Amino acid sequence: MKKIQISPSILSADFSQLGNEIKKLEDAGADMIHVDVMDGHFVPNLTIGPPVIKALKKHSSLIFDVHLMISPVHKYIKAYSDAGADIITIHPEATNDLSSSIFEIKKLDKKVGVSLNPKTKIDTIIDHLKEIDLVLIMSVNPGFGGQEFMPEVLDKIKDLKKIQKKQELDFDIEIDGGINFDNAKSAIEAGANILVSGTTIFKKNNGDIKRNIELLKSK
Ligand code: DX5
Ligand code: ZN
Repeated sequence: MKKIQISPSILSADFSQLGNEIKKLEDAGADMIHVDVMDGHFVPNLTIGPPVIKALKKHSSLIFDVHLMISPVHKYIKAYSDAGADIITIHPEATNDLSSSIFEIKKLDKKVGVSLNPKTKIDTIIDHLKEIDLVLIMSVNPGFGGQEFMPEVLDKIKDLKKIQKKQELDFDIEIDGGINFDNAKSAIEAGANILVSGTTIFKKNNGDIKRNIELLKSK
């Protein structure tokens, strides 16, 4: 059984204080930092890019779990690797050759994640599962924090877990979107071992980040 890890999404952090915010996350026991990169094209929102990630990297020794909601994604992979991304997660819809994009990330000696939107089926990536380190299951449509959790994705996690077992693979299963104190346990029971959370960690209990991370870890 893999250790449950918490990857707080800085999309819900105070963007005017990002360096301090990620230091607070590290002190509060976060296992990694989930960095939501959005380009206003793949998703209808625009956040940060390589220069900001490079600057933030200096403020934390944590793993940077970089979620690229950008398309086309292939030609930008190296820039995020150079900026300090440790895990680079891409969406299959954002590249016209998933194998070569996976290979590009591996060539840069980074961990490879592939993300499935709520409507995207596991079949889309089934032939690539042996090549990747992480599957990111979206439990909201990507683009914004604070959205409602979509419980129907739990069945997808259960199906993925069965396939993982059958193929004797060991990739991480990360769930992302609307995770809170009420649904974290069912996400873990379904098979997720990394929980992404933005709103719950930064806003609940008067923004007591340490308490919120501990509460999620205790599920
Ligand atoms: C949405 C992002 C998620 C989101 C999570 O496109 O990928 O990481 O920020 O935020 P909450 O936990 O607020 O749903
Ligand atoms: Zn994300």
